[in-house]
Amino acid sequence: MHIVFVASECVPYAKTGGLADVVGALPQEVANLGHKVTVYIPYYRQVAAKMAEKNYAIPSITIPYQYYNRFAGIVDGGERDGVRYYFVECAELFDREYLYGTQAGEYPDNWERFGLFARAVLEATKQLGVPDVFHVHDWQSSMVPVYLRTTYTFDPVLRNVGTLLTIHNAGYQTYYPPQTIEKLLLPWDTFTMDRLEHFDTLNFLKGGIVYSDIITTVSRRYAREIQTPEFGFTLEGVLQRRADDLRGIVNGVDYANWDPAHDGYIAAHYSDANLDGKRRCRKDLLHAFGISQTSDTTPVLSIVSRFATQKGFDLLADSAERLLAHDVALLVLGTGEPYYERLFTEIAARYPGKVVVKIGYDNALAHKIEAGSDIFLMPSRYEPCGLNQIYSMRYGTVPVVHATGGLDDTVESWNAAKNNGTGFKFRRYTPEALIHALEEALRVFKDKDAWQALMRNGMQQDFSWKKPAKEYEALYNEVARRRS
Ligand code: ADP
Ligand code: GLC
Repeated sequence: MHIVFVASECVPYAKTGGLADVVGALPQEVANLGHKVTVYIPYYRQVAAKMAEKNYAIPSITIPYQYYNRFAGIVDGGERDGVRYYFVECAELFDREYLYGTQAGEYPDNWERFGLFARAVLEATKQLGVPDVFHVHDWQSSMVPVYLRTTYTFDPVLRNVGTLLTIHNAGYQTYYPPQTIEKLLLPWDTFTMDRLEHFDTLNFLKGGIVYSDIITTVSRRYAREIQTPEFGFTLEGVLQRRADDLRGIVNGVDYANWDPAHDGYIAAHYSDANLDGKRRCRKDLLHAFGISQTSDTTPVLSIVSRFATQKGFDLLADSAERLLAHDVALLVLGTGEPYYERLFTEIAARYPGKVVVKIGYDNALAHKIEAGSDIFLMPSRYEPCGLNQIYSMRYGTVPVVHATGGLDDTVESWNAAKNNGTGFKFRRYTPEALIHALEEALRVFKDKDAWQALMRNGMQQDFSWKKPAKEYEALYNEVARRRS
C-alpha cells in the first residue's frame, strides 16, 4: 500500500509537541512493514532553516479562492529511512516565526494556512503519487478528508482514496465564522450540524471526524474519554456517533532518539544492566541548572512540558509548599502560556537553590533531564497519550502521573509486595491526591533496593513503534477494503 501522512509537525523539521515525535517515527515503522510511505508538512521557516538546498518537486500549484489565487510549491525533502518527505511552500502563509501563532494568540488566517495546506497536498498527490490511504492528524490536516469527500468526490483519481484521522488532542479546535466556508470554496450544504457546523462556527476537527473513514486516538483510555463532555470539548456527541469507527492505539516512542544506552545529548550512557552512568548524568544536569548544594540522597524531581492548562500545573501550585518542605530538588523546563511561566518563576523565586525553572524550548536539555532526574512529574488534567512518561521509564526516571488518558494506559502503579509496577499514579484530580502520590514516591525512593527494582521495571518496558505500527497497518487495510 501507499500511505500518505499529512501533518503539521514532524521531527526533525518542525516541532511544538508530541505530534512531531509521532510523525517523525511512525512513518518509518510503517515503511519497515513493506509499504510505500510519504509525509507532507508545511514548508515553515523552521523547515527552510534545516534544508541545505531547495529542490522543487512541483514548482507551482494554483489554489483558487473567491477573488484571488494562491500558489503553492512542493519542495522535495528527499528520502530518509524509506520515507519520502514533501513540504508545501506558500511563503506568505508559512514563512513565519512560529507554527501556529504567537503568545498573543493563534494566527488569524490559520483557516487559510491549513485550508491551503490540505488542498495543495491533494493536488500534489495527483502528480507525485496517489495513496491508498491519507493518514491525517489533528485539526491542521482535517481538511484533507473534508475536501476529498466534498469538492473532490468526482475526481476520478482521488475519489476512492481512504482516510484515517488520528486525534492527538481534542482540546485544540478551530471556531471560524460561517463565511469561512465560502472563502475555502466549500459548498454551503457542508455547513450543517451533522457536518462542519459547530455552534455556528466552522470546526475543522469536526469535519475530520465526520468525513474520515476511521478515527483513532493515541491511547485506549482517551478513545473512551473523548466521548464524554469532560474530555470531548463539545465534540463528544459527534464522536459518540462515530464510536464504531473510533479506536485507541497507544503511541510508541522512537528509541533511536530516546534511549540512555546511546543518547548523544547526555553525559554518560547507561542501561538497565548497568546504571552507573546515571549518576554522572545527574551531576551534569544539576550543573546545567546551577544547583551545587544537593546531596546524593536528595531526589531530583523534574518537569519538561508545554505550559498549558491541560498539563495540570495548577495542582502542583496548590501542593508546592508541602512538596518543597521535603528534601527535594525541582527542575522545570517549559514554555507556553504566560500564566504558567509566571507561576513557575514565582515558585523558583521562593525556593532559591531548590527549585530552578528554565523558560524555553531546549531539546538537548530535555534529554539531560530525562537522564539525570529521579522522578518525572506529569499531573496532567487530561493527556491523550503523553510521551515524556514513556521516555522517563526508559531512562530509569520514575513517573508520577495523574491516571488519565495515555498516562493511565502506560504507567503501572508500583506494588511493593510484588515488586512490580513502573511508577505512581493518582486518580482524583486534587492537590491532595498529587501530594499523596509524590510522598509515596519519596518514601520508596529511600529504599534503595525497591527503587532500583522500580527503575528497572520501567527501563525494561517496550514501547517501540513495532506493535502500534502493525495496529495502524490493520486499520489502513480496513480503510482500503471499505473504499474498494
Ligand atoms: P504534548 O504533545 O501534549 O506536548 P507529549 O508528552 O506527547 O506532550 O510530547 C511532548 C514532547 O515535546 C516531548 O518530546 C518533550 O520532550 C517535548 N517538549 C515539550 N516541552 C519542551 C521544552 N520546553 N523543551 C524541549 N522539549 C520539550
Ligand atoms: C498531543 C497530546 C499528547 C500526545 C501527543 C502525541 O500533543 O497532548 O498527549 O502524546 O499529541 O500523540
